[in-house]
Amino acid sequence: MPDAHILGIETSCDETGAAVVRSGQEILSNVVASQIATHQPYGGVVPELASREHLRAIVPVVRQALAEAGQTYASVDAIAVTQGPGLAGALLVGISFAKALAFALEKPLVAVNHLEGHIHAVLLEQRLGENADLHFPVLALVVSGGHTHLYLAQVHENLWTYRNIGHTRDDAAGEAFDKVAKLLGLGYPGGPIIDGLAPHGDPHAVKFQISQIKHPDRRDQKQGDHRQFPAEDGPHFDFSYSGIKTAVLRYVETRNLKPAIEARHRALAGIDKPAVEDIRGLCDRQTLNLVASFQRSMVNDLVMKTLAAAREYDVRTLFVSGGVAANRELRATFEREAGMQGLPVFFPSRALSTDNAAMIAAAAFPKFLRGEFVAMDFCAEAGMALR
Ligand code: KG4
Ligand code: ZN
Repeated sequence: MPDAHILGIETSCDETGAAVVRSGQEILSNVVASQIATHQPYGGVVPELASREHLRAIVPVVRQALAEAGQTYASVDAIAVTQGPGLAGALLVGISFAKALAFALEKPLVAVNHLEGHIHAVLLEQRLGENADLHFPVLALVVSGGHTHLYLAQVHENLWTYRNIGHTRDDAAGEAFDKVAKLLGLGYPGGPIIDGLAPHGDPHAVKFQISQIKHPDRRDQKQGDHRQFPAEDGPHFDFSYSGIKTAVLRYVETRNLKPAIEARHRALAGIDKPAVEDIRGLCDRQTLNLVASFQRSMVNDLVMKTLAAAREYDVRTLFVSGGVAANRELRATFEREAGMQGLPVFFPSRALSTDNAAMIAAAAFPKFLRGEFVAMDFCAEAGMALR
């Protein structure tokens, strides 16, 4: 197998990433410029601001990734870039830059689906560890701020193929973490904050019901629509997280928690980069119990649906990836429950769970080996499906 140094570029959402990965296996550099401080005052990603921040960061981030890897523009073998899904304006910054580099340097250009990148973040580290437990078919749960998807993954002669067997009907799991944190005046992004607070509350204090979806997705049956995930044969395991967000809102209203939330919001606005301990100091027991109960319900739903799909499709290995895969309770619950089914489960390290460009460079390697390059007229695809 030839050695290849691939420069990966990722700008699909609110992180500007560049990385150099050798032959899909060895991370030589992985630079991520986070935009958290920019979006924090709004409690969520503002697309126009994200594009502007990518424009500001892209050149220094790519230069730093090359320098840290001991590489130059001339020495890399290919450029890989996220094509979608993501924010159109944000994707365009990375794509335009990657096209310009590939054109000027006369290097091949590889387009990567962001979701495939998340799946390859697991593979990247498993290959590094020479893990012998990797058997196919693999079931991958990609769970982040924009996505909650289940894919069956197969590989044949470096051609990876994916089949979607579940997706969220409304909010993504990470979006629910972010919205609930915002609703409770805890700050942004919500996932890591709730992860840090939940162990201090009682997860049985508040009972939440998460929708169990039995009927097929009507959007899949409409003719001629721009559906992201066409219906395929076999059972689907869909998710729904907008209901639990509404249930938290109702709890807040009926228990009259609003004044305490507003006071917390004001207090946090006065602290520069508040740590979880600062936030915890501003939460009463009722709020900590609410947070712990919310996280427990989310985790149980994600784990139980994924394991039901794993049994139905008789998979041999489970991957859990994407920003929410950094969640400690999610990891522990998956390990315990999958272990009871005798199913090996793999996560990326916490740093590779959230958006980064090493996963894009890693996912590009099998395409590089197959000569799957894109022409200069390829476009960003905000709603890109993974197949
Ligand atoms: O993969 P990612 O960086 O970006 C997307 O592709 O969306 O995921 C970001 C999401 C955010 O919603 C964030 O709140 C969530 O992942 N997240 C977490 C944790 N760390 C990040 N959710 C739960 N627990 C965490 N520790
Ligand atoms: Zn992502």
